[in-house]
Amino acid sequence: MTEFPKKIIIAGGAGYLGSVLTGQLLERGYAVRVLDRLLFGEESLAAWRDHPNLEIFRGDLRDIRLVLEALRGMDAAILLAALVGEKACDDDPVETVGVNYVATIALAEACAQFGVPRFIFASTDSAYGIQEGIMTEESPLNPMSLYARLKVQAEQKILSLASDQFAPCVLRMATIYGLSPRPRFDLIVNLLTMNAATRGRCTVYGGKQWRPQVHVADAAHAYCLALEAPVESVRGQVFNVGSNEQNYQIGQLADLIREAIPHVVVETTDVPPDLRDYHVNFDKIKRALGYEVQRSVADGVCEIYQAIVSGQIPDPDQEKHRNA
Ligand SMILES: NC(=O)c1ccc[n+]([C@@H]2O[C@H](COP(=O)([O-])OP(=O)(O)OC[C@H]3O[C@@H](n4cnc5c(N)ncnc54)[C@H](O)[C@@H]3O)[C@@H](O)[C@H]2O)c1
Repeated sequence: MTEFPKKIIIAGGAGYLGSVLTGQLLERGYAVRVLDRLLFGEESLAAWRDHPNLEIFRGDLRDIRLVLEALRGMDAAILLAALVGEKACDDDPVETVGVNYVATIALAEACAQFGVPRFIFASTDSAYGIQEGIMTEESPLNPMSLYARLKVQAEQKILSLASDQFAPCVLRMATIYGLSPRPRFDLIVNLLTMNAATRGRCTVYGGKQWRPQVHVADAAHAYCLALEAPVESVRGQVFNVGSNEQNYQIGQLADLIREAIPHVVVETTDVPPDLRDYHVNFDKIKRALGYEVQRSVADGVCEIYQAIVSGQIPDPDQEKHRNA
C-alpha cells in the first residue's frame, strides 16, 4: 500500500469544507481531483481553477461510470459529498438515502475493489444525538435524524471494509464555523454572526445544549493529518474532530458573539427547536495524529462579520449560502 498518497480525489470538494480542503491540499503539493455536482456553483474553486494540480469532474456521486473514471490513478479518496444537514435531508428523503448511503457505500466499495488504498469519510458529532456525559469515539451513538442515522450506518459499513489493502477511516466532526470560499450561513455561529452583521441582532434558541464547534480551516487540517499519518494509525479508526476547549453550550456562543461584536442585541428564547445535546472528548485525534486546532470561535465571528460588513459577501441572505 502507498504509504504517502499523492493523488487525492475529493467528492464534494467544491462545498463549504471541501473548497477549503482543496486549497490546503494543493498548497501541500498534492494533485487534487474534485468530483462535485456543484450544487452551489463553482465559484468556490475559482482561486485554484488554473492550478496545474487541480482537476474538476463535474458530476453526480450516483453516476457509477463517472465515479470509476474519476477513481483511476488515485492514492486516496475523501468523501464529503452529501445532502448536508437535517433540514436538507428531511426535504428529500429518497435523494438523501441515494446519495448519503447508497452512493456513499458504492464509492467506498469501488475504492476497496479498484485499489484506492486510503479512504476518509466525513461524519458528524450529531451521531451522538442527546446524551448525558462526555462522548468518546467508543460511546454509544444516538442519531436523531435521517441525516445522522445514515451517517452512522455509512460509518459502520465503510469501516467493515477495512483490509490489508484498504484503510478506511471516519472523521466525526463538530459543527463547523468560519469563512470559506463557499460561505454557509445555516450553521449556528455563522448564522448568528450574519444576523448580527446584517440586522444588528440575533436570536438564540434554548441555551443549555452542548454543541462542540470547530473552525473550517481546522476541520480541513484534520483530513491532511489523516492522509499523512502512518496507515496503521488510521485504518478502521474513528476520530472526533474538534477540541475539548470548544465544547460550548448554545448560550455561551451567544456570549461570544456579544463580546466580539459591539452593540449587537442577542435575544434568547426558551424553546429549543433543535434538541441535539452532546459534549465531546477530542483526546484521541490529538494523541494519535498530533491534531491541535489553531482558531477560536471569536476568530470565526470576526472574519465573517468583516466579510459581510466590508461587502466581500454582498448578499449573505442568498439561497446559495444555505443548504435548506
Ligand atoms: N458543515 C458542518 O458543520 C459539518 C459537520 C459535520 C460533518 N459535516 C460533513 O462534512 C461534509 C461536507 O459538509 P459541507 O458543510 O462542506 O457541505 P456542503 O453542502 O457545502 O458541501 C457538499 C458538497 O457536495 C456536493 N454534492 C452534494 N450531493 C452530491 C452528489 N450527489 N454528487 C456530487 N456532489 C454532490 C455539493 O455540490 C457540495 O459542493 C458533509 O458530508 C457533511 O455531512 C459537515
